[in-house]
Amino acid sequence: MPHILALDQGTTSSRAIVFDQAGNIVSIAQREFQQFYPKPGWVEHDPLEIWQSQLEVAVEAVAKAGLEVADLAALGITNQRETAIIWDRATGEPIHPAIVWQDRRTADTCDQLRLGGHEARIAERTGLVIDPYFAGTKFAWLLDHVPDARERAARGELAAGTVDTWLVYQLTGGALHITDVTNAGRTQLMDIHRCQWDDQLLALLGVPREVLPEIHSSSEVYATVAKGQPLAGVPIAGMAGDQHAALFGQACFKPGMVKNTYGTGCFALMHTGTEAKPSEHKLLSTLAWQIGGITEYALEGSIFVAGAVVQWLRDQLGIIKSAADIEKLATSVDDTGGVYFVPALAGLGAPHWDPYARGTIVGLTRGTSAAHIARAALEGIGYEVADIVSAMQSDSGLSLSELRVDGGASNNDLLMQMQADLLQAEVVRPAVTETTALGAAYLAGLATGVWSDRGELQAQWQVDKRFGPKIPADLAAERRATWNRAVERAREWALD
Ligand code: G3P
Repeated sequence: MPHILALDQGTTSSRAIVFDQAGNIVSIAQREFQQFYPKPGWVEHDPLEIWQSQLEVAVEAVAKAGLEVADLAALGITNQRETAIIWDRATGEPIHPAIVWQDRRTADTCDQLRLGGHEARIAERTGLVIDPYFAGTKFAWLLDHVPDARERAARGELAAGTVDTWLVYQLTGGALHITDVTNAGRTQLMDIHRCQWDDQLLALLGVPREVLPEIHSSSEVYATVAKGQPLAGVPIAGMAGDQHAALFGQACFKPGMVKNTYGTGCFALMHTGTEAKPSEHKLLSTLAWQIGGITEYALEGSIFVAGAVVQWLRDQLGIIKSAADIEKLATSVDDTGGVYFVPALAGLGAPHWDPYARGTIVGLTRGTSAAHIARAALEGIGYEVADIVSAMQSDSGLSLSELRVDGGASNNDLLMQMQADLLQAEVVRPAVTETTALGAAYLAGLATGVWSDRGELQAQWQVDKRFGPKIPADLAAERRATWNRAVERAREWALD
C-alpha cells in the first residue's frame, strides 16, 4: 500500500504525519519550537530551527510508521502562511529571523498605503485588505532594515519566500526557489486572477521581482528531495498554505462548503468556485488551490489568536497546566458570570482589521474566578468565528448548512457546543481532524497517482460527531450583541 508523508509546518510546532491510501493516520511526530517576541507586537522565528525541527519530525514519523523512505510515494508540504524569510541564495543563511504572520511591525507602512488611496486597487488585484498580516510589507521591511540587503538583492544574491519556499529550498539542497499559488496569494504581491506577480504591486510595496520565487500549482511533482538528505529521492508533489490544505482535506470541493480550523489562530474558508469573489464584509478573497490548470477560490475569515489564547492562559497566566486542561476548568462553571474576553492579543483580524486592538477582558467582579476567565476565553473564540461566518453568508448569499471543523481545539466538545449555539448551525467534526496535513497528502497523492480523483477523497471523509444548537436563536443574538460591545472596547486601544 502506498504511503504519503505530509509536512505540516505550523506557527508553534513542526509536525509530520504519514497517511496510508485510505487516508488513515499511520504515525505522527511533532516538535514545538521557540517563539521570539523582541518588542511588543513583534513575533519572530529562527528559520534554521523551523527547518531542523521539520526535518527531525519527518524522519521520526517515517521511522514510527515502520517504513523506509523508499516506501513513500510522495511528500506534501503545508505551512503557516505569510511568514517572511529572506536568505542568501548561495549559502542558505537567513539574513534575519523570520517575521511571523502575527507580527505587527509594518502597521505604519500599511497606514501609509491606506492614506495613499491604494486600498481599492490592492483589494481588486489581491483579494486582500491592507494589513501587516501579509508577507509583502514584511519582505520590504527586511530589505530596508538589514544592512546592504537592497544592494545584495539587486545583485541577485538574495532569495525571499514564505515557509513553503524555504522548506523546498532546503529539501532540494538549494536547487529550487518556488512557491504555490495559495502561498503566493498571501504576499499581497500576486494578482490572484492571473496567478502571477504583479509589477505595480511590487513597485508599490518595494519588493524587487529578483528576490521572489517562481509560482506553481498546488499539486504537481516539483522535484525530488536532494541526494544526501534523509528523505532523498522522495517526490515533492503537493504544496499549499495550511488553511487551503485544510479546506482540501475537509473535502470542501463545492461552492458554499465551509471549514474552520482551530489552530494558533482560527481560519474559516468557504469554497466559492472558479472565480474570485470580492467581499463586502472585509473578508479575504483568496485562492483555494490550483490543480491541473484549474484555479479555485475561497472567501476567508482570519482570526489571529484562538488556540494561542489558551497557550497564553497556560504560559503567561498559569491558570492551566496544559492546553487540554481548559475544557475541565471552563466546564466547572455554568457560564462566564458576565465576563467577555476579546482575545485580540495580536490585534484584530477579520472582519475588523484593527492592528491596534488589544486583548480585553470586561465584566470582572469580585466573584470572577479563573474558571470564568477560561470559559470566557473559549467563548471569545466562538464569537469571533460566528462573526466571520455571518460575514461569509452575507457576502456569498449562501446560507450555511454545516460548519466542518478541525485543528487541535476542535476536539474540545465544550467549545464546539458553544460554536453551534452561537452560530445557530450544525458543527461537524470529522473522524480525521488532522485535515491540514491530510489535505497536503491528498494534493501530493493526486499528483503521483495514489488517488485518481476527488471523488475518491470525498468518499474517505467520515463524521466523528455533530453538534447542534442547544440555545434559542434570540438568546444567541442577545449574547452576540453584548460581545460586539466588548469588541468596541478592545478596538484601537493602542492608538491613545
Ligand atoms: O495565516 C496564518 C496561518 O496560516 C497560521 O496557521 O495553524 O499555524 O495557526 P496556524
